[in-house]
Amino acid sequence: MNESKPIGVFDSGVGGLTVLRALRAAMPAENFIYLGDTARLPYGTKSAETVVRYSLQCADALIKRRVRCLVVACNTASASALGALREHHPTLPVIGVVEPGAAAAVAASATQHIAVIGTEGTISGGAYQTAIHRLNPAARVTSRACSLFVSMAEEGWTEGPIAEAVASRYLDPIFQNAGAPDTLVLGCTHFPALATAIRAVLPRHVNIVDSATITAAAVLQLVGGNSARVGTRGAVAWLATDGAARFARVGSAFLGERLDAEAIDIIDL
Ligand code: DGL
Repeated sequence: MNESKPIGVFDSGVGGLTVLRALRAAMPAENFIYLGDTARLPYGTKSAETVVRYSLQCADALIKRRVRCLVVACNTASASALGALREHHPTLPVIGVVEPGAAAAVAASATQHIAVIGTEGTISGGAYQTAIHRLNPAARVTSRACSLFVSMAEEGWTEGPIAEAVASRYLDPIFQNAGAPDTLVLGCTHFPALATAIRAVLPRHVNIVDSATITAAAVLQLVGGNSARVGTRGAVAWLATDGAARFARVGSAFLGERLDAEAIDIIDL
């Protein structure tokens, strides 16, 4: 793997910036190219065939820019398109967020009853269930699509009574029962933004698993990132398919630092 090449990261929009943030924390000196397919988001409500097609186009755009590996920083795309991406690019390392998230959940759960929340596409495809069962065939998985969380996170409604009421509505039916799961996987890039509201409505003992950090650790292991190079911070090239101003505004909150609209190149896929 050529270490001078950047790491390619894509998502349907700004959500994957939570993954990029974890990647940069784990590998500060690495260079990245981030592509947000903002013209066609959300992916979470689209059919698996469409998400596969879009994901292959995102991958092509990054590969054209000579990336040394591909991080699928979107749960929906990881759930539907990882197989197709690996098949089309057999020599390029492709890492999604589902497998690391599933591994972290199996490691965290004492009862092996695990809850997974995500977009409609992620949940209906059953990718987390499959990944968890591959690690522990006896695990029990309870899952639920929480689509409204995506718009709430982009709107910045992440804490307080509205966020908690919506979190309760989605999660009480799962957690207010005897034998409820002891671990919850945030199987969507946007959901870590709502972690405080989600925490507030969950029983105290429930573990929350966010796949961003664990995915970053998996990427670091795979590419042997320049984490040891101190004093230099790598660069990020920003690509989006629409709306640089919105990408910068909403994305800044997900990234945890200010994004400049002028630094974002708008491309066609
Ligand atoms: N990035 C998507 C995910 O993690 C959420 C947003 C969308 O539906 O496009 O599933």
